Amino acid sequence: MPNTVNDIIQMKSREKITVLTGYDSTMATLCDKVDVILVGDSAGMVMLGYDDTRDVTMDDMIRFTTAVKNAKTDSLIVADLPINSYENEDSAITNSKRLVQAGAHAVKLEGGKKIADIIKAVVDSGIPVMGHLGLLPQTAEKYSVQAKKSSDAVNLLEDAKILEKAGVFSIVFEMVTRDVAKIITESVKVPTIGIGSGINCDGQVLVVHDMLGMFEKIKPKFAKRYLNLSEDIRNAINSYVKDVKEEKFPEEEHTFSMEKEELDKLEKAIG
Ligand code: KIV
Repeated sequence: MPNTVNDIIQMKSREKITVLTGYDSTMATLCDKVDVILVGDSAGMVMLGYDDTRDVTMDDMIRFTTAVKNAKTDSLIVADLPINSYENEDSAITNSKRLVQAGAHAVKLEGGKKIADIIKAVVDSGIPVMGHLGLLPQTAEKYSVQAKKSSDAVNLLEDAKILEKAGVFSIVFEMVTRDVAKIITESVKVPTIGIGSGINCDGQVLVVHDMLGMFEKIKPKFAKRYLNLSEDIRNAINSYVKDVKEEKFPEEEHTFSMEKEELDKLEKAIG
């Protein structure tokens, strides 16, 4: 049975929630054990080669969401609303509906009290929303640790409570000090999902390309690399290039042949 938003809410304090990003069908199929697949706008960097997430469009997100839906896993699919797609309540609802039509079960928006009314409008339209606080890549001037000062921490806690009131079913906390992430996790009823925010969040999210060691441009401190896939991929591709150049590939087992009788006929026919 596919995971529901309610299943994810119920996991708070019972079982840690696992989230990985996904943008294509092949990878999403391999992620079938994770509770939530996040079709993140990090796709702009790891799939489209942009320097940040700001050039990602709704059409991009629809294409990636469709691909993840086609993997038909049991994971809950959450899709990011990209920058400029939720500037007011109407555009947020229209674009959230487009993502749901493409296969998302919920959408994610970046921001706190400034967008609380927009979040509430999307929730009231029947679409579940995941919040995103701390570092907000769509608008951040630089990627730095958040809530190091007590005054920032107080604001963050206030934002979390406002989002909870607006009806989010969970909140991502990006690059927040672990002490503050712990306090907030204990202060809200909805699950907190950390990325670079320590062990005490209710769940964890990583960009799948980071944890597989496939993305070489940026290597965040918080992204544990479970594999060094870029090296394996490069070695495999170099071996392929060498084999083709040296006429070692394809071998007999990769080749289709004609029956001898047919080959003789062909040779006769063409002289
Ligand atoms: O776009 C994304 O991948 C995200 C995660 C980093 C939380 O928002």
